[in-house]
Amino acid sequence: MKEKIEALRQQFQEELEKTGSSDQVEKLRVAYLGKKGCVTQLLKGLKEVDAQQKKELGQHINQLKKQVEDKLAQQVEAIRQAEMQRRIGAAERYDVTLPVTDVSGSYHPITIVQRQLEEIFASMGFTIEDYKEIVTDYECFEAVNIPKDHPARDMQDTYYLENGQLLKTHTSAAQNAILRKYGAPCRAIFPGRCFRNEAIDASHENTFFQMEGIMVDTDISISNLIYFMKTMLSEVFERDVKVRLRPGFFPFVEPGFELDINCLICGGEGCSTCHHSGWVELCPCGMIHPNVLKAGGIDPETYTGFAFGLGLTRLVMMKYGVKDIRDLNSGNLKALSQFTHE
Ligand code: PHE
Repeated sequence: MKEKIEALRQQFQEELEKTGSSDQVEKLRVAYLGKKGCVTQLLKGLKEVDAQQKKELGQHINQLKKQVEDKLAQQVEAIRQAEMQRRIGAAERYDVTLPVTDVSGSYHPITIVQRQLEEIFASMGFTIEDYKEIVTDYECFEAVNIPKDHPARDMQDTYYLENGQLLKTHTSAAQNAILRKYGAPCRAIFPGRCFRNEAIDASHENTFFQMEGIMVDTDISISNLIYFMKTMLSEVFERDVKVRLRPGFFPFVEPGFELDINCLICGGEGCSTCHHSGWVELCPCGMIHPNVLKAGGIDPETYTGFAFGLGLTRLVMMKYGVKDIRDLNSGNLKALSQFTHE
């Protein structure tokens, strides 16, 4: 029996060296250690051996079993490593200088519209600023005239982080930093992703995009604000869009407005996107509150300015006729590619 054990050890080693995939290793494991495997059979065969030899042979077989188990595990790992090396090797051979012949995919509709807006505003002398998504309570609220315990905080159900910071609920969270950065006069837009703990439906998401804009100078008035809004909308929609201005309350503007556009999904008839009103709130705006200018280091006696917070996600829905806001964050290429052609 001893010879048999030794022969098996040899045979196993030879067969192991021939394996090149984890499937083959698994087959070998079954052949040796499975219910009917040869090592298992050997152990069963001990029954017939006399008691004296049993102990010694048993030890030998168990040793072999352990060896087989260890070597199988090593081989699986070696094959995994080799496979990884092969893949890395293949990636390294990828020639990035080759001309691209087959391009599929496109920009996300939000990116397309964001870039279009950036171009429009850049042509009107606005700087484009990028800003963080994680901000402080001061930036998001206090610097824009929303002190602690102000009821306006209720309108923006906020995701607070354990460190006391928060996910910005509106792009206005960047106003303070940008006012400080440029001082007056200043014209800037700052697009960004915003987060609110909303109940999700066809027109509400917990993650959405806004594009904020501010313009500060001497003698800025509401007519400047209306002019820029109208120019922007006619460029984006490439057609006549009905707008209406209603009074709206935001602690960081005085006076404040809601700029609504005629719902382009239903043409004003009423649908789920416009909550059957025929109008869609698109761009809250107003004249920057003196407290916000002061917090930004700007003298409100000398300078005035306007601010707007364009709902970029809404605008995209209107422009492309996207009925359900959830399609935009879905990553569903079938849905998204319908809206993009650039
Ligand atoms: N930050 C406001 C909101 O998200 C929108 C806004 C921006 C209103 C700028 C007025 C001026 O609700």
